[in-house]
Amino acid sequence: MESIKAILESRKDVFLEELLQLLRIPSVSANPAHKADVARTADMVRDRLAELNMPKVEIYQTAGHPIVYAETEQKADRPTVLVYGHYDVQPADPLHLWNSPPFEPVIIDGKIYARGSCDDKGQMYMHVKAHQVLNLLGGELPCNIKYVIEGEEEVGSDNLETFIRGHVDMLKCDVILISDTSMIANDVPSLTTGLRGLSYLEVEVTGPNRDLHSGTYGGAVDNPCNVLCEMIAQMKDSNRGITIPGFYDDVVVLSAEERTKMADRPFDYEDYLQHLDIATTRGEAGYSVTEQVSIRPTLDVNGIWGGYTGEGAKTVLPSKAYAKISMRLVPNQDPDKITKLFTDYFTRIAPASVKVEVRPHHGGRPAVTPIDSIGYKAASAAMLESFGKEPIPTREGGSIPIVAMFKDVLGANTVLMGFGLDSDAIHSPNEHYGLFNYYKGIETIPLFHKYFAEYSKR
Ligand code: BES
Ligand code: MN
Ligand code: MN
Repeated sequence: MESIKAILESRKDVFLEELLQLLRIPSVSANPAHKADVARTADMVRDRLAELNMPKVEIYQTAGHPIVYAETEQKADRPTVLVYGHYDVQPADPLHLWNSPPFEPVIIDGKIYARGSCDDKGQMYMHVKAHQVLNLLGGELPCNIKYVIEGEEEVGSDNLETFIRGHVDMLKCDVILISDTSMIANDVPSLTTGLRGLSYLEVEVTGPNRDLHSGTYGGAVDNPCNVLCEMIAQMKDSNRGITIPGFYDDVVVLSAEERTKMADRPFDYEDYLQHLDIATTRGEAGYSVTEQVSIRPTLDVNGIWGGYTGEGAKTVLPSKAYAKISMRLVPNQDPDKITKLFTDYFTRIAPASVKVEVRPHHGGRPAVTPIDSIGYKAASAAMLESFGKEPIPTREGGSIPIVAMFKDVLGANTVLMGFGLDSDAIHSPNEHYGLFNYYKGIETIPLFHKYFAEYSKR
């Protein structure tokens, strides 16, 4: 029998070329102009899954972008793994900061540069190729496998929720396996045990009924851009804590023991600063960087605009100012409750000189996953075998809102076995994914299925 490594070695080039094909389609879910590209990407994912001899491979249309669903023959004597991933990507702009076009993948120094190379086309496609490896190993698959590959993760997974709630029986499974997170380093494998939630909203501050001459009116009429800045500044105290009343009420406080364990995670502060070209960090007082970016909630302005932003100078007192604001949430904060607390506070602190409006966007609940589950143990054993090192459990700061929903609706735990690196520049210009990581994922995933089947029998 050929080994996983031998199979992978002999097919490296094809496995890579297929991923590059996927990366060439600009499946930007946020941009309606790319709707057809998103659909084309779904078709391609379906076509590749259809090559794996599964009795069911289908596209489900939704009110938004399509969902690709596939399943192997479901046999009663083995456990079922539901693989979730997404084929949609973030917008690529600002385009001028890319060293090569975002949808024309290139390989430089062993890394694939393209939008979606890591998040999540590269990581999702590892599962498709791992399945092919399992097929080539011969014999029966250790687990039943189901695939849910969606096209709206980057815009909040709104229609996935409807799909899941409408197909509870079809999606029945023993564990959910997701590769859409990072590891500590290529020689320090880790498994993600928690993700933050999200509350995202847009605010609009309106002053006078039109843009005014800033000489004629400036000094008397309040300026919505200035007001917005004051209001945002008021939302943090001198310790960089968030001042919204009730904001921290539901935050789970970690035990001293858990915090000590977290501090064991390898982290090089100087290296971190150097990578980002910053002189220092300035997070919430009393917490380490590792804690600030994982177990503590945040409030950040994602974008802010208003008034004149064109070439040169225009003397104007703007009528309106806007900002997009996100709050990363931790267990047990509820996004709807936080959105309401924000809205009430923002409305209350607005001076009488302006009108304000808060428009909520998508949200998502935080999630923690157990480390004593069969799934976690199988992932740990798989990584130990492929990396030669036992993975370290880590909590991450990003969000995959569907994880909490899977737990609620399907009653299944998720295993977050990601192969990316924080330095892969996901959502940024020059996103990349290491060939090492891509192939390591394809090598590790079949082992997960093997160990999950084995441990499920005990
Ligand atoms: N793959 C990321 C989530 C992620 C990033 C997890 C880094 C762990 C580490 C995912 O595609 C993503 O970007 N999610 C969005 C949330 C969504 C509701 C737009 C996010 O975290 O901003
Ligand atoms: Mn992702
Ligand atoms: Mn993303």
